[in-house]
Amino acid sequence: MISIIDNPSLAEAGRQRMNWFVEQMPLIASLKESYRTELPFRGLKVAICLHVEPKTAFWIEAILAGGAEHVYLVGCLGTTKPDTAAFLASNPKITVFAKEKDAMEDHQRYLEMVMEEKPDLLLDNGASLILAYHKKKRDWIPLGANEETRTGRLLIDSSGYDIAFPVVVIDDSPLKKLLENAVGVGQSVVDGFMRATSLLLGGKRILVIGYGWCGSGIAGKFRAMGAHTSVYDIDPVYLLKAKVDGHHVSENLNELIARADAIVTSTGRFHIITTEHIPYFSDGLILSNAGHFGFEIDVDELRAAASRVDVIGCGKETLWFGSRKVFLLENANPLNLAAGDGNPIAIMDLGLGLQASCGALLASGRHGLHKGVQPIPVEIDRAVSRRMLRF
Ligand SMILES: NC(=O)c1ccc[n+]([C@@H]2O[C@H](COP(=O)([O-])OP(=O)(O)OC[C@H]3O[C@@H](n4cnc5c(N)ncnc54)[C@H](O)[C@@H]3O)[C@@H](O)[C@H]2O)c1
Repeated sequence: MISIIDNPSLAEAGRQRMNWFVEQMPLIASLKESYRTELPFRGLKVAICLHVEPKTAFWIEAILAGGAEHVYLVGCLGTTKPDTAAFLASNPKITVFAKEKDAMEDHQRYLEMVMEEKPDLLLDNGASLILAYHKKKRDWIPLGANEETRTGRLLIDSSGYDIAFPVVVIDDSPLKKLLENAVGVGQSVVDGFMRATSLLLGGKRILVIGYGWCGSGIAGKFRAMGAHTSVYDIDPVYLLKAKVDGHHVSENLNELIARADAIVTSTGRFHIITTEHIPYFSDGLILSNAGHFGFEIDVDELRAAASRVDVIGCGKETLWFGSRKVFLLENANPLNLAAGDGNPIAIMDLGLGLQASCGALLASGRHGLHKGVQPIPVEIDRAVSRRMLRF
């Protein structure tokens, strides 16, 4: 099967970009070393859906070192680094389906192509592979799957599918919540915002919608940079937490939107910013999203409702509503990955270490896991934490 990527000639650039990340990922490096002798993925076809970027690339090298026969990699929307895709696709044991400007239809087509290969293990992000498997009657059952995100967990729960194999939800791990979501995402989203806009954050009025693990970190990091932060969450418990953390809060979202210079959504839910909010947009408002995929902001409906849409380039466009203009960043794809390099390396070293360890457990068949969704076994969280404490 041939890879579908932007430009194969970027492979050497992708390899060079990866060098720095390899230096900074001791956990994956040590797992890779152990996997060389343990061969936990021996002879397996591994399907992966993940952001195609250097940290993912090094992690895939570890899975191949663990004996995987072949890796099929599907990228996520708006986050593919074409040089990393080219580097990975230059390895005959990896097939990559990831272009920088892929649309949802491309993504769905790639998933179906991967299903035709009947992979043994699904390492998923946003439940793309897991839902693609269950959309049709299949004549094989994978050993199991990982799901990385909160959004993926919610999509599996609402799908109504009778899940045919064990699915371990990485996002249910205390380790992932405490470190990646609460610490890493805040830093990387602020970094993505700064890279996308080059704006001074001091004095900017930033509204964060969704004050869960990610949103609380995002709001905290924006405030640390001097922004005036306000928070909306549909759950008054989380709103109260935001208030005692020192953010301006209100149960009236429209009121908060009206006083914002920029909005970052982080709920993992659909339709958070819709055309109903247009009357409350201030002139010059910046819209962005940190949640998985772009569906928190009704981008197509907003474009359709605009009197004019101008593409500024470099991931930015202007939507005109009469004399007011609103800027949309990165087509509402996750800002930290679309405009930046994603989460800090140490955070993904840990997150990918969790994914690899769960994958190895599923591959072993000796796990006592049941069909359907379940959290990471506590011993994996502890083993990965202990290994990480060495570095
Ligand atoms: N960009 C990244 O690198 C990255 C990393 C991890 C997670 N994520 C994604 O970020 C999103 C949030 O993850 P999380 O771990 O913070 O989830 P979470 O469940 O901890 O928090 C979500 C919050 O949103 C609130 N909420 C739900 N519906 C809402 C609505 N209609 N309006 C306002 N608030 C609402 C909930 O009450 C909750 O407090 C998910 O999509 C997740 O997949 C992104």
